Amino acid sequence: MNLTEYIDSKREDHLNELYEFLRIPSVSAQSEHKPDIERAAKWVAEKLRAAGLDNVEILPTKMHPLVYGESLRAPGKPTILFYGHYDVQPAEPLDLWTSPAFEPTIRGGNLYARGSADDKGQVHIHIRALDAIMKIAGKLPINLKVMIEGEEEVGSVSLWDFVNANKARLKADALVVSDTGMLAPGVPSITYALRGLNYYQIEITGPAQDLHSGIFGGAVPNPITILCELFSKLHDRNSRVAIPCFYDDVAKLSKAERKKLKALPWKASDFKKTVGAPGLTGEKGFSIIEQLGARPTLELNGIWGGYTGEGAKTVIPSKAYAKFSTRLVPNQNAEKITRLVERHIRKLLPKTVKFEMEVHSQGNAWAAPYTHPFFEVAHKALEKGFGKRAVFIREGGSIPFVTQMHDTFKVPCILLGFGLPDENAHAPDEHISLENYFGGIKAVAQFYEGLGNL
Ligand code: BES
Ligand code: MN
Ligand code: MN
Repeated sequence: MNLTEYIDSKREDHLNELYEFLRIPSVSAQSEHKPDIERAAKWVAEKLRAAGLDNVEILPTKMHPLVYGESLRAPGKPTILFYGHYDVQPAEPLDLWTSPAFEPTIRGGNLYARGSADDKGQVHIHIRALDAIMKIAGKLPINLKVMIEGEEEVGSVSLWDFVNANKARLKADALVVSDTGMLAPGVPSITYALRGLNYYQIEITGPAQDLHSGIFGGAVPNPITILCELFSKLHDRNSRVAIPCFYDDVAKLSKAERKKLKALPWKASDFKKTVGAPGLTGEKGFSIIEQLGARPTLELNGIWGGYTGEGAKTVIPSKAYAKFSTRLVPNQNAEKITRLVERHIRKLLPKTVKFEMEVHSQGNAWAAPYTHPFFEVAHKALEKGFGKRAVFIREGGSIPFVTQMHDTFKVPCILLGFGLPDENAHAPDEHISLENYFGGIKAVAQFYEGLGNL
């Protein structure tokens, strides 16, 4: 039996094992799930051991543990660091899920569960590919280090210290990640650029306590109104971010790259269908692909305050809150952007309210050429796994570790993504296509094999 035949013969086993992983609600943002985080880390460690890795360890950090393992038994062959995350985003609102978030369910060729695409399903693709290689070849054709973290979805806050304290351990000839998507169904994709993310929370305080809106309304500052006024001023009519100097350092796309992006096999009508809104907006002068992959944004992620329960309550709230974020592109600097954002908000807010801002996480963008020979191996492997030529894409999401590894070691980062644009990551009914999951296992196994043959 060859590798592909073996992988095909084990479809039930792959899935049953993935179900176990998906049933663990390892939500990194919610402290009540701390025991589940620990359980998921143990589960990953056990599977890495079973796949034949050595020195598998669960390493504590300031927040959630990360799992590390290695196999350094192929002298003279490349050393690859594979990275993924076992934590997931909160599943709320639970009532919007067709089947429960942590009960993996197959419908219409897709596997539904929180984490199925982002990122447990994709981590599992690699675990099963390694397992298959060990079963068929008896050993790995390359040197491999594996690091699976538990706080990616909250900004990888402990990671920077970990990377700096473990440089020798993490050193590799390339970083491999599967935590992105494919351009479209049936179009295998290699991502060569990600945006960075700064995430902020602000609190605006007006009156010292909540007030009767009849007795006081008309004479006192309402923090919700002021918050709404503030956010109405952060974009201009062309959907550009209206913060002075925000675009100063933005790298311009070359003509050649714009042309390549334009030629990608991608339909705006499919994108519109996935979005499901009556219409789209976006920065004027740029294509949708450019808006998503090569332009910075400012997005409101949550806004609250006052009374939102059943019925009416006539109240002027003391406080209003917002969570919002900026997506960054090369060569913007995350710390500088935070300073610009804070300075501008302070300038816009009236003296009638107090203001506090907290920065949850900051991170720069990543973009790099895909010229290293490893990319050719990846390209061929994807073609073998999916029967179609792979494309190179920019993506709008953020993976802090990719930026950190690239900045620290300057190594090629090879992002093989198996999600799809309609995967509903971070939303109800998250899913991975079974075709991508099984195709992914085959492609990744071919990739590791191919690297061994270089
Ligand atoms: N896997 C995503 C990032 C991603 C998704 C990249 C799709 C490209 C395409 C990752 O788990 C994620 O959601 N990251 C967060 C950032 C983090 C700092 C909280 C994000 O992008 O919002
Ligand atoms: Mn992810
Ligand atoms: Mn995510």
